[in-house]
Parts: sequence; structure tokens; C-alpha cells
Amino acid sequence: MKTSEHVRERVRSSYGAAVRESKSCCGDAVPKGVAAQTAGYSREELASLPEAAVLNSFGCGNPLAFSDVEPGQTVLDLGSGAGIDLLLAARQVGPTGKVIGIDMTDEMIERARRAAEESGYDQVEVRKGLIEELPVADASVDWVISNCVINLSPEKDRVFAEIARVLKPGGRVSISDIVIERMPGWLRRSSRLHSACVAGAISEAEYLAGLERAGLAEVTVSERLVYGGGQLRELARSEAGTVRGPRWLRRVVGALLGRLAAGFEGRVWSAKFVALRS
Ligand SMILES: C[S@@+](CC[C@H](N)C(=O)[O-])C[C@H]1O[C@@H](n2cnc3c(N)ncnc32)[C@H](O)[C@@H]1O
Repeated sequence: MKTSEHVRERVRSSYGAAVRESKSCCGDAVPKGVAAQTAGYSREELASLPEAAVLNSFGCGNPLAFSDVEPGQTVLDLGSGAGIDLLLAARQVGPTGKVIGIDMTDEMIERARRAAEESGYDQVEVRKGLIEELPVADASVDWVISNCVINLSPEKDRVFAEIARVLKPGGRVSISDIVIERMPGWLRRSSRLHSACVAGAISEAEYLAGLERAGLAEVTVSERLVYGGGQLRELARSEAGTVRGPRWLRRVVGALLGRLAAGFEGRVWSAKFVALRS
């Protein structure tokens, strides 16, 4: 039986390696930097950011797109990674605002701090901590954002409760995350595919219900980016490439995983969840 700390340790080590080595996180599914291009950031946004922040971004959406974050507000980013959304938020809140990133992986924290410093954003602070136990005061932030992180948590209800705790009354949520419908049990048990943002994902309805149980209001999905068969097969192929053994074995595993992936077409997407703390 895996404890929650066990699960987090695997995730931490996988993301630490992802930034240290020249590979992407999610099971090598995408080459570094490609995640940012497919996640919904505009060309202008990407061009304006330090290259390292874009290359080390592992999100599945753009939680700040179309959000009306205002100058002077406080934005909290859960699982801020190498800092791509911290930098975009810093621009929106300006020098009178505040942006707080929370992450548990030292390598990510270090990169996010460096990116904020290089960009001259004094309003960005990156804290080491867990999203299940936020090192953030009650009712202190205007926005909670997050990008492809909560699927990785083994204790999602704790995360949802923490979001409600730290938001000011009237505060808003904008979370991009992977959802998977009708996940088979064998897939959910794969620790390898957990860090790849697959095995820990829940359905859209479960996500919405979790946010509502935490006491948040106006919980809804404002955007969906559905993954096509080609993208799912690509993910399967890259997973097979990480299997140890002779080439023929990787080819057989690749073919099997490819057939399995085809069965998931239309059941996997990146959803943007929005909500309000009333
Ligand atoms: C898929 S990456 C996304 C990073 C960033 N949001 C982005 O868009 O590039 C997941 C990040 O969440 C962090 N993370 C995962 N689970 C966490 C937890 N329980 N507490 C704190 N950070 C966590 C990882 O260390 C990693 O930096």
C-alpha cells in the first residue's frame, strides 16, 4: 500500500530529473518546450518569457488566459514549477501586487526564483511546501491558479479544502488540469504513469464535485482542450521508449500501448476549472 508521501516522493524525483536532464516530465511525452506551445499560451506571451521558463514548463493549459487578474492583487500558483505562470501573473498584478508560487521540488523552486529574478519581478515569491498543506495564511489571496498539478496529488480533497481556506471572500479560482473519463483500475495503479499526469487524473465530474465539496461556488469548466488520437498514440510511443530491454520488446510494447491509447480517444482532455469563494 503506497502512502501519500510515497507518491509525492516519486513525483518529486521525476520532476527534479525532468529539469536536471534534457527531457520532459510527463513520461517524455513531449520534447521540452513543446508543452508550452500546445498549452494555449500565445506566441507573444512565449516570446516575452525567459527561454528556460518556457523550456521547463510542463503545463496543460494557460490558467491566466482570459482571467481578469487586476493590478495590486495577490495570485497564488499551486505547483508553480519553473515559473512560467508566475511570470505571466507578475505582469498582470504589477509592482503593487504579489505572486506566490508553491512547489515541493527543489530544482523547480530554484529555477522559478531565478526566472523571477532575471525578469526583475520583486513581487514574486516562491515558497517550498505541499499543495495539501499550503504555507499561506487564511483568506489572503485574490486568485488561486494551477497548471497540470492537482492530478498528481494523492489527496485531492485536502488540496481543494486548502484552496477554499486561502482565498479571500470574492476570490477566484482558475485551474488547468488533465481529466480522464472512465479510467480503468490497472491504469490508475501505474506509478510510472502517475508522474506522467495520467494515472492520478480524475473525471471532470469528480473534479467539479471536489471543488464544490470544499465550499466553492460557481464551479464550472470554462474551456476544454481534447487530446486527439495522434497525441495519445505519441504519448504511448514515448512511454514504450522508456522500457528497458531489447528493441523488439520496446516495439511490441509500443504497438500494444498504441492500441490501448486509441481506446482513450475522446476520454482525455485538459479542462479549465473556474470557481468563486463566496
Ligand atoms: C506538471 S508540473 C507543472 C509545473 C507548472 N505548473 C507548469 O505549468 O509548468 C507539476 C509541478 O507540481 C509540483 N507538485 C506536484 N505535486 C505537488 C505537491 N503535492 N505539492 C507541491 N508541489 C507539487 C511538481 O514539483 C512540479 O513542479
